[in-house]
Amino acid sequence: MVRIAPSLLSCRFAELGREVKTVDEAGAEWIHVDVMDGRFVPNITIGPLIAGAVRGVTQRTVDVHLMIEEPDRYIADFARAGADVITVHAEAARHLHRTLELIRSLGKRAGVALNPATPLSAVEEVLDGIDLLLVMTVNPGFGGQAFIPRSLDKLARARALVEAHRPGEVEVQVDGGVSEKTAPALVAAGATVLVAGSAVFGHPRGAAAGVAALRASVEGISWDERGR
Ligand code: DX5
Ligand code: ZN
Repeated sequence: MVRIAPSLLSCRFAELGREVKTVDEAGAEWIHVDVMDGRFVPNITIGPLIAGAVRGVTQRTVDVHLMIEEPDRYIADFARAGADVITVHAEAARHLHRTLELIRSLGKRAGVALNPATPLSAVEEVLDGIDLLLVMTVNPGFGGQAFIPRSLDKLARARALVEAHRPGEVEVQVDGGVSEKTAPALVAAGATVLVAGSAVFGHPRGAAAGVAALRASVEGISWDERGR
């Protein structure tokens, strides 16, 4: 099953509550919250306060993508703010195993993100501790960047890796340059959660149309014949 996760990075922040409601009512299963610290990535965005505000206006899965150094310092804050999924970057967590245990100890689903340059081997030793593997399909930091074509092959290898160890148990998420054009191949290669910022909030007919267009683009496509 494919889940659509609009990235709020591209929404109109002055209308945050309304933007969340629009994509929620359009059927987006997850709401993707991009947290940037100006150190791990060049951009600065939002913190637990805004994540909590998002939580307050939706029952959908709140998916927090931490693009920050020393993520352990803030995980409890995001858990308290009501995140359902907390994803950290392998490149930013010095003791990744411990970080993942911390997320799960707070009752949250734990994700690991990999930058385009980071090999899949970075997660091999922690596969038991993850609920989600995020294959970045752009270098993190900004919305609206072009999809990196080579990441399609990496995605397929990511799906094969998690299936070899934890069949059917791990979401594989893609983030960056996801659109109606790129989504079909991504889902066929193993993605089950599609993050999309500009393709949703920048859609010419509005965000609800953006969610619908993404959904329609992957209709009937699945990485496995059982249609999970
Ligand atoms: C990028 C963020 C993404 C971003 C994606 O660093 O992690 O979630 O919003 O934006 P698009 O979908 O426009 O590439
Ligand atoms: Zn993201």
